[in-house]
Amino acid sequence: MCLEEVNDLPSEQFIKIFGNVVEHTPAAAICILKKRPFHNVEAICDAIDAYLDSLSEHESKNIVQLHPDLAGKLADTGKLSFESTYEQTSMGLLSLSSENKHKLTLLNEEYKARFGFPFVVCIRDTNGINEIIRAIQHRLNNEIDEEINTVIDEVKKISRLRILAMVKE
Ligand code: GUN
Repeated sequence: MCLEEVNDLPSEQFIKIFGNVVEHTPAAAICILKKRPFHNVEAICDAIDAYLDSLSEHESKNIVQLHPDLAGKLADTGKLSFESTYEQTSMGLLSLSSENKHKLTLLNEEYKARFGFPFVVCIRDTNGINEIIRAIQHRLNNEIDEEINTVIDEVKKISRLRILAMVKE
């Protein structure tokens, strides 16, 4: 889709198309509607970043909660969103060795027990499972405030890649 089409979409269509740029958060698309017209793709990404920056800590945590575990139950049962299915498949997370799957499952559980929300990382910015495992291990050392900032930065990176995949200048 080109920018002109994005700017001309009826609101309902815009919300449908951009409703999962932030996982299961159509409110993000609704919020950026009023910022049209966008003059370039970066402006769409910036609008999403500004939306995420405007959230309280509680709201940020709620948005992170909407993300599926990497290689978790939703992945096992084919219930991921279209975008997450693509991301997790393309990074090999749906075809892990049983050893790596076990490691990731235990780390996901440890992370959730520590912070109260699932581990989210922009997996397409990593080199794959080994880097993802190192990232969780590293982030488990963060304090909660630091980790909320980190995880929201990762949500921003994911949404940026989703937007770039959809909109061509
Ligand atoms: N990184 C990219 N996509 C996803 C996702 O759907 N869930 C999590 N936890 N991390 C991601």
